[in-house]
Amino acid sequence: MPGSGKKKISVSIKRISTIYNHPMNTSYDEILIFIRQTFKEPEGFIPLHAPYFGGNEKKYVLDTIESTFVSSVGAYVNRFEEMMQQITGAKFAIATTNGTIALHLALLVAGVKPGDAVITQPLTFAATANAIAHAGATPVFVDVDKDTMGLSPLALKDWLKENVEIKQGAGFIKSTGQRIAACVPMHTFGFPLRIVEVVAVCNEYHIPVVEDAAESLGSFAGDTHTGNFGLLGTFSFNGNKTVTSGGGGAIITNDEKLGKLAKHLSTTAKVQHAFEFKHDMLGYNYRMPNLNAALACAQLEQLEEFVNNKRELADIYAAFFNNRNETFVKERPGSAANYWLNTILFPDHETQQEFLVYSNEKKVMTRPAWQLMNKLPMYRDCLAGDISNAEWLEARLVNIPSSYRKSSN
Ligand SMILES: Cc1ncc(COP(=O)(O)O)c(C=O)c1O
Repeated sequence: MPGSGKKKISVSIKRISTIYNHPMNTSYDEILIFIRQTFKEPEGFIPLHAPYFGGNEKKYVLDTIESTFVSSVGAYVNRFEEMMQQITGAKFAIATTNGTIALHLALLVAGVKPGDAVITQPLTFAATANAIAHAGATPVFVDVDKDTMGLSPLALKDWLKENVEIKQGAGFIKSTGQRIAACVPMHTFGFPLRIVEVVAVCNEYHIPVVEDAAESLGSFAGDTHTGNFGLLGTFSFNGNKTVTSGGGGAIITNDEKLGKLAKHLSTTAKVQHAFEFKHDMLGYNYRMPNLNAALACAQLEQLEEFVNNKRELADIYAAFFNNRNETFVKERPGSAANYWLNTILFPDHETQQEFLVYSNEKKVMTRPAWQLMNKLPMYRDCLAGDISNAEWLEARLVNIPSSYRKSSN
């Protein structure tokens, strides 16, 4: 509701304008002044995304200290998993110590083995490619769609058609002979990608899908929460996300066997027994501590309010950018984004760079997209398709302040 957002803005333009040396009518100042009005912050630093603790956070965290159950056994870890099942609609949720590890474990459970190849997108956070490498596999980079900024089903189809042959029920890369063990699409900044189409293409090549939904808690494609379309989905609860546990992650799945295996491996593969210590597999110490889960539970109780608040902010931004040179990125019709990080696209690389320098100098935090994965030293030699959309976005994209606004209530 852009109208109602404007009404609530109380900080005067004149007051804000006094902190700028440049003429009031410059294009970048208009954006910065609008952001300051929207966050009711006339001159102080405006972060990109700050956590908001407005509920039972202190009470629940204190509970864990008083109960002495601060480590990976405790009522809050179990409650966190139940809440994640309810929120996402998945049959199983497994709490982990962070989102990178959630992805690593999900890939192992999906059957990724050393020497395999795993397809992902070049426009993502390093953790996506790192988790693939931690599993001993090699990432392959396939382009994103310009509108969703997530893996493109068309680019995927084209790349597979040209590079992959199916043998004995699996897809193999013709040039390297590697099996494609998984595909990891990522819902960039909380915008649901064309996940139904991606899964359909992967099914043709017998490739299991593991969704990196780290940024998309509270985002839906159709009526289905992100993370439910593939074999497994993973989330992050880092301090910069919509909901935080300090550090934390989660895996969701609708496959009972995989859910149980993920839980077992995350808890050192210890066999349940009243007092004996027996481990029947090579396990991991990946379970989220109760202390962190307490914070997460209090935050999850506010998820709906957080997402509504962020969607309202997105409406306010959308109205502002409507008649400007920059394009405000909107959710794809038929999907509902959590608008974790609001995103604008500048007409070219030069204006993007100018604005990044200018806004950060003026204490309004903005940031570009991550450097594309295929340009990082450790992934430079990996296979990549035509990634011109990712390059186009990398050159133009800027994230602008997107925190929960207390004052909007
Ligand atoms: C796309 C993506 N994947 C994975 C991660 C890893 O999550 P974490 O930082 O909790 O390890 C993050 C966030 O940090 C992310 O943005």
